[in-house]
Amino acid sequence: MVVLPLLFLLGSLFHCGHVEAQSTSASELLKQAALQWNGPVTCDKWDCDCAFKERGCCCVAKDMFQLEEDTFMRMKYLWQGIGTLNHRVQDLTDGVRVAFKATMNPNYTTPGSTEYCFGPFNINVPIPYSVVTLNHDNAYNPSLGIFTARSAGVYVFSFTVYSYVTEYGRLYHKVQLMKNGNVIASVWEDNREDSEDNANQVVVLELQRGDQVYVELASGRKLCKYLEYNIFTGYILYPQPSPYSIDFGF
Ligand SMILES: *[C@@H]1O[C@H](CO)[C@@H](O)[C@H](O)[C@H]1NC(C)=O
Repeated sequence: MVVLPLLFLLGSLFHCGHVEAQSTSASELLKQAALQWNGPVTCDKWDCDCAFKERGCCCVAKDMFQLEEDTFMRMKYLWQGIGTLNHRVQDLTDGVRVAFKATMNPNYTTPGSTEYCFGPFNINVPIPYSVVTLNHDNAYNPSLGIFTARSAGVYVFSFTVYSYVTEYGRLYHKVQLMKNGNVIASVWEDNREDSEDNANQVVVLELQRGDQVYVELASGRKLCKYLEYNIFTGYILYPQPSPYSIDFGF
């Protein structure tokens, strides 16, 4: 059969591109002959304008649907990527201004006592540094004495401990910085030689969003007089968002 390739060739010449048929009736004849052909047809992807319009377009349609699907998936991944990026930017900008400074209230008296002492209690108690002079971001809660990280990052905390007892009294305190209930750093005193003493600790901590940091007084111990010398401060050194994976799907 030599006639079919010939029909294709003629059909292409007459109907594709800008080469117009010289004789309409001849091309019609070829077209009709071609359309009546029942055997397998090899499609060319871009022959939509040719005689075998329907079949040719089907070949392209499959590719078009695939392209559409791919484009949709890419847009979906992009959208998710933008969402993740948005969270990271929020973490970074939220973490920029975090700093607080708080001291104990010098007027504090432990219930049942007339001394200006915090403690003793029979359990460890977070120290409520309630006099706040700086609290950007309101991450520090002065009634509980607890700092809660709103964004992940590296933070610096310091606390100063001071206590004063009368002559021959016993300086007896133990104060510790806590992160989510675990001891990070502490200072303590137990002697009758001094009537006053102070100490200071500075720590650098990596925090995740929601981590809590506070200072607690150990059970059975106490801080007395000039309680305003007891200071708790903290600030962010730099934000450090958790490593989200950004997959744009390319
Ligand atoms: C402590 O008491 C004094 C005298 O009543 C008062 O002037 C001062 O404001 C109080 N300090 C705090 C932090 O409440």
